[in-house]
Amino acid sequence: MSRPAPDVAQLREIAVTVALAAGELISAGRPNQVEVAATKSSPTDVVTAMDTASEQLLRTELARLRPEDAFLGEEGGYEPGRSGLTWVVDPIDGTVNYLYGLRAYAVSVAVVLDEESPERPDPATWTVLAGAVVDPSQSETWTAARGLGATLTDSRGTRRLTTSAGPRLGQALVATGFGYDAGRRAEQAAVVARLLPRVRDLRRVGTASLDLCSVAAGRVDAYYERGLNPWDFAAGLLVATEAGAAVTDFDGGPAGSHGLLAAGSDLHEHLRKALGNDEA
Ligand code: IPD
Repeated sequence: MSRPAPDVAQLREIAVTVALAAGELISAGRPNQVEVAATKSSPTDVVTAMDTASEQLLRTELARLRPEDAFLGEEGGYEPGRSGLTWVVDPIDGTVNYLYGLRAYAVSVAVVLDEESPERPDPATWTVLAGAVVDPSQSETWTAARGLGATLTDSRGTRRLTTSAGPRLGQALVATGFGYDAGRRAEQAAVVARLLPRVRDLRRVGTASLDLCSVAAGRVDAYYERGLNPWDFAAGLLVATEAGAAVTDFDGGPAGSHGLLAAGSDLHEHLRKALGNDEA
């Protein structure tokens, strides 16, 4: 017997509720002074501790509110469920910013449906149904539900997001990010060297979920990265898509860890050609 269609508006509300609670936890729990060198060298540093605490909060609250659903988190991995839905969470996206006290980090919560590989959801086959990205430093909450659009809530209220088709490549402000692996970084640097002379400028904010939300809001014109984890992009991808941005891999297929490019429809096409088959 087929299951009833999920209520994406209700799922979005749950995503917002739990992401706000985790956002409050990580911003309140970050000491004003973090000894960067010491915390980096210790396996139980403040970042690790807050990552774990935030994920634990998300896991506990989602288990209470949605006991049938599976859970995939950056820290604790995958826990299967029975409903076909999986919550995909990043308890602190922008961990390095968080460590250094740079005010660009977020909690990212998405819920996905994957009928093709229900035993372990895969970005190649899943559909993101709803998501929330909470930026506690800016008091901004980004949300989306499939087919219902994307919104930004801040101190001025809630507004619907619409991405334009985008400027010409030469006028585009393009965000990107770099992985942690040195070999990948060398390739990413080579792509940057080729792209930088062809665009208005590049940005490396350090938080993939916020980069995707920035595309949705027109704060940047495009964002691309290779090597992301599913929890980095699941919620932000829906925010950008529901705002009207095109989000694919570098060949026009489904975005994933192998490649993600988000931009207004016209710019997306030009940027995809510019990136070509380069290791982006
Ligand atoms: C990272 C950030 C960063 C991106 C990296 C990600 P994390 O996530 O989203 O912007 O460039 O590829 O791994 O480690 O802070 O959760």
